[in-house]
Amino acid sequence: MSALLELAGVSRAFGGLRALSSVDLAVQRGEVVGLIGPNGAGKTTLVNVVTGVHRATSGRVRFDGEDVTRLRPYQAARRGIARTFQIVQPFSAMTVLENVTAAALFGGAARSIAEARAQAREQLAFVGLEQAADRRAGALTLAMRKRLELAKGLAMRPKLLLLDEVNAGLNAVEMDAALALIRGIAARGVTIVIIEHLMKVVLSLCSRIVVLHHGELIAAGKPSEIVKDARVVQAYLGRRYAEAQPAHG
Ligand SMILES: Nc1ncnc2c1ncn2[C@@H]1O[C@H](COP(=O)(O)OP(=O)(O)OP(=O)(O)O)[C@@H](O)[C@H]1O
Ligand SMILES: [Mg+2]
Repeated sequence: MSALLELAGVSRAFGGLRALSSVDLAVQRGEVVGLIGPNGAGKTTLVNVVTGVHRATSGRVRFDGEDVTRLRPYQAARRGIARTFQIVQPFSAMTVLENVTAAALFGGAARSIAEARAQAREQLAFVGLEQAADRRAGALTLAMRKRLELAKGLAMRPKLLLLDEVNAGLNAVEMDAALALIRGIAARGVTIVIIEHLMKVVLSLCSRIVVLHHGELIAAGKPSEIVKDARVVQAYLGRRYAEAQPAHG
């Protein structure tokens, strides 16, 4: 079967800046892929291009057998592509339940408001926020807002979920809970691309890692290969990190 998501020669420029430069990438169904690279490497831009927030300047994006290069965000959502935002941006004045209900409607996963609300309650229970359903989203802690982002994404019933630093700023206990949650999402059969700076997290979740640097995909492979890749070590991980890794056979 063909890949769920395929980027072929995808570039995105902002004025003279090439945020993405001829990126080729295939994500298979059921994979959990880590997307790493230094600040400004183009990770969020890649998510924005796949979700229709920014259009590719050149190249093609295919999803689930269809060309999605020119779709708008709601159209991408309706085809099964959901994402979380690096800067969480709930509708603060709305309740938690209303936020997730709106996401279910945006993603076209519900045919009525009642159905969307039921869908939203189900996802809030899954992420452990059912007790907070009637609270204002703006009143949540950071860890809860991150869970709310996940619930919003899941309410779209995605085939592919793109997680943009969904764990940033969490403490160790919150992080463990978040990792368990992400594993639970993968176990439901959702394909995941996760952007994450903490290598411990990437290594514990991902079966494959792709590395962006100055908009170029400089490496892709198994975690054990990526942590030893000379270009990746030089561009991102640093020599001290590589030396601390146990040798892999
Ligand atoms: N809307 C935009 N307009 C102009 N430049 C942009 C825009 N979005 C991103 N860029 C630029 O494109 C480059 C890639 O940015 P991007 O946000 O994709 O990086 P990133 O890998 O997600 O970084 P970080 O790890 O800091 O989140 C950066 O130089 C950034 O300043
Ligand atoms: Mg980013």
